[in-house]
Amino acid sequence: MVDLTGKTALVTGGARGQGRSHALALAQAGASVAILDVCEDLENVSYPLASQADMDETMRLINEANGKALAVKADVRDREAISDAVARIVDTFGSLDILAINHGVMAISEFRHMDPADWDVVIDINLNGVFNVLHAGLPHLLNQTWGRVIITSSMAGKGGYPQFSHYSASKWAVIGLAKTVALEVATTGTTVNVICPCCVDTPIIHNSTMYRLFRPDLDSPTIGDVAEEFCRYQPQGIPWIPPQAITDALMFLVSDGAKHMTGETLSVAAGQNANGAA
Ligand SMILES: NC(=O)c1ccc[n+]([C@@H]2O[C@H](COP(=O)([O-])OP(=O)(O)OC[C@H]3O[C@@H](n4cnc5c(N)ncnc54)[C@H](O)[C@@H]3O)[C@@H](O)[C@H]2O)c1
Repeated sequence: MVDLTGKTALVTGGARGQGRSHALALAQAGASVAILDVCEDLENVSYPLASQADMDETMRLINEANGKALAVKADVRDREAISDAVARIVDTFGSLDILAINHGVMAISEFRHMDPADWDVVIDINLNGVFNVLHAGLPHLLNQTWGRVIITSSMAGKGGYPQFSHYSASKWAVIGLAKTVALEVATTGTTVNVICPCCVDTPIIHNSTMYRLFRPDLDSPTIGDVAEEFCRYQPQGIPWIPPQAITDALMFLVSDGAKHMTGETLSVAAGQNANGAA
């Protein structure tokens, strides 16, 4: 197991889903973990985001595992709030060593019918929000001789996905950002990598907007109505993978075993990646 004693990690979008899984694993490995999440629903996002109760549950799980955690409620679009949050984290734990930039939102619309407000909210959160966290946090990693940045993109960051042009554009963009910053800081001991998941078993896919996309023939499709449709996307024949599968990749990327991997995009995708270029 990776030993992260003495390190501090920031996990954005950490109140639930993949972020919760990452936060718990990082804390179990000995890191102090700051969990940042908006914890409220947002205009132009059509499904519920994490709640305060979700954040409380993540904190409870970490406390139960005897981990150290700090809950930070902030919107990644708010540059000043993110800068303040990073200062508070460093003040509380004494350093910042790992940035797990995981937050994200999804919207669904064919491009020619897209409401520009949908474009704006997805780009503001999934791209500009990543900028805000990386820009505020990276200088602290570079003050030291060791740092890890892991940005969560998507398989939609490696190909086109009809109905998801805004989401796909944001997820391609963070790969360009990560590869460039990886080169700029390559000699510093900080690595910058990207994880590209396929469908993961979290609320971003388990909501009525997504279910209706998969079963437009039904008024109120349920999980049982859509699971088979989801399977078509994963060559391994499963509808979605557990958050732990992404956490396992993240824990590898923070380990010393990955110290010579930087600027990489790691697909954890049940075979979806095999349809694409090498
Ligand atoms: N689940 C999937 O199928 C899947 C597939 C590929 C990529 N992803 C990506 O994985 C990442 C994690 O998503 P997830 O699957 O855990 O879904 P999720 O919806 O459970 O988690 C996303 C988290 O981001 C938070 N968030 C959203 N907007 C925010 C904002 N403005 N400021 C702060 N926090 C905000 C939400 O509250 C939520 O807790 C996202 O970047 C997502 O795009 C997910």
